[in-house]
Amino acid sequence: MKISVCGKGGSGKSTVVALLANEARAKGYRVLVVDSDESNSGLFRMMGFDHPPVPLMELVGGKQSLKQKMGQPNVLSETHIAPAQIPEQHRLQRDGLMLVSIGKILQSLEGCACPMGVLSREFLKKLTLQEGELVIVDMEAGVEHFGRGVETSIDSVLIVVEPPLESIDVGQKIHDLASGIGIRNVWAIMNRVPSEEIANRMKAELEKRHMEVVGYIYFDADIFGSSLEGKIPVNGVAVQEMKDIFDRILSRAGMPPG
Ligand SMILES: Nc1ncnc2c1ncn2[C@@H]1O[C@H](COP(=O)(O)OP(=O)(O)O)[C@@H](O)[C@H]1O
Ligand SMILES: [Mg+2]
Repeated sequence: MKISVCGKGGSGKSTVVALLANEARAKGYRVLVVDSDESNSGLFRMMGFDHPPVPLMELVGGKQSLKQKMGQPNVLSETHIAPAQIPEQHRLQRDGLMLVSIGKILQSLEGCACPMGVLSREFLKKLTLQEGELVIVDMEAGVEHFGRGVETSIDSVLIVVEPPLESIDVGQKIHDLASGIGIRNVWAIMNRVPSEEIANRMKAELEKRHMEVVGYIYFDADIFGSSLEGKIPVNGVAVQEMKDIFDRILSRAGMPPG
């Protein structure tokens, strides 16, 4: 299963990715997290690492020379890539969790991020999984990645939405684009929900827009507090909420319960 986590900027994508990865790991899955957000760089800390992996972009000589170096042999030239084949410096690993990063925008005027979109798309397409392996992609904010075709090999899209209507609108756009290219599982997860009453209103709004909700995470002072250190909580309410959400995801996707 390859899940991409999408949503408006700041909606909680990376938080959801890290909580989901920990939960999938706890259920016995081997999890590969792919950081495909070229703008934000904090995911490695949320996943409990103290430095980021060397971006895969470096394998092809960085963004500037992607075109020239695309032809030279490296793991990215293989037709199929198993997580274990990724060169060590490009993957961080701890007890069944692996993190790779596509690339980051480091300089101003370095041009658009399209080459990173191409690399994300090709890498995800070639990534070949064994039973018990799960890929979770921390996608860039918004909808541009659909234009670049990053989702072509993704089977499930998890859309993070917050109460503001604008967030729901972006979520719907993602939902329609994902469904439009034939992605089987497209679900919404409501984040930073302040009360049950608002959860119910939000759910009704999403369902009115034909979006299927797999659960919600309350506004959580622990999550916000941990973010001061760039971390996420490893126990507490949100971790519990993610247990139920992951169970629902597995059952709706027809996956074994871990
Ligand atoms: N359920 C939540 N409760 C409280 N704060 C949250 C929650 N989810 C995310 N946050 C906080 O919101 C900010 C943005 O979250 P992040 O996951 O980085 O969003 P994104 O990856 O979509 O940009 C972070 O400071 C994070 O700690
Ligand atoms: Mg993020």
